[in-house]
Amino acid sequence: MSPSVGLSAAVSYRNAARHVAIIMDGNGRWAKARGLPRTFGHRAGVQALKRTVEAADHLGIAWLTVFGFSTENWSRPPQEVSELMRLLKSYVETDLHRLEREGVRVHVIGERTGLAPDILEIIHRAESRTRHNERRHLQIAFNYGGRADIVAAARRFADAVASGRLAPGDCDETTFGRFLSTSEAPPPDLIVRTSGEQRLSNFLLWDAAYAELVFQDILWPDYGAEALKAALAEYAGRDRRFGGVEVHDVLAAG
Ligand code: IPE
Ligand code: IPE
Ligand code: MG
Repeated sequence: MSPSVGLSAAVSYRNAARHVAIIMDGNGRWAKARGLPRTFGHRAGVQALKRTVEAADHLGIAWLTVFGFSTENWSRPPQEVSELMRLLKSYVETDLHRLEREGVRVHVIGERTGLAPDILEIIHRAESRTRHNERRHLQIAFNYGGRADIVAAARRFADAVASGRLAPGDCDETTFGRFLSTSEAPPPDLIVRTSGEQRLSNFLLWDAAYAELVFQDILWPDYGAEALKAALAEYAGRDRRFGGVEVHDVLAAG
């Protein structure tokens, strides 16, 4: 391989996001702008999710994580919470066969305790039916909170120490990271939040350490291929230094 081929491969690798995570926000405002109840925004949001999963596949994104329901979203009115539960179920019911056929492995991250039996059943079905797929990964954060995930990991680590499988001194970033619900995924390269809000709202706190953040002024039900491409274009222009320095700066410094 000539040096120039190697260099261009390195550049395109650096600029291609392997893992994109999305905070799908703005369903309520989308509905309000149309004089509709918030639940209509969530239903339109499922259509945007379908478009985005398809676009991510066409764009070659290996891992897509979407924030569907946070540990704090239980504080919403009961009918809105039950609609969000129903929508997760109907999304999986209608799309599981296609995801399975297209080589997508589904992972659901978040706290399982507190979810209704029918929701637990659909999560189990989605994960087990796609377990052998490895072409693409769709990670759905449902009843997920970054802090809760870190606390649950700490509890599991403590259990491993108490049972003698690990020693306290084994706790380093790699070992601890294996106890998080996101342990199977590479860290996100890019975290997108729609709707103009600029915060993480307890999403992927551990994993976001070196993610690039892109905030888009578009309400989630309006999202799709064009918006995802725009986010990736912004990401491609970023310098990721991971605490180091750029290669050309090292060369310039001699
Ligand atoms: C995102 O839209 C969906 C979930 C949080 C489940 P919102 O429902 O938060 O919409 P806004 O932020 O009120 O517009
Ligand atoms: C974050 O959005 C949660 C999801 C997208 C599922 P929220 O709308 O709940 O976040 P806040 O309340 O604006 O911070
Ligand atoms: Mg919101």
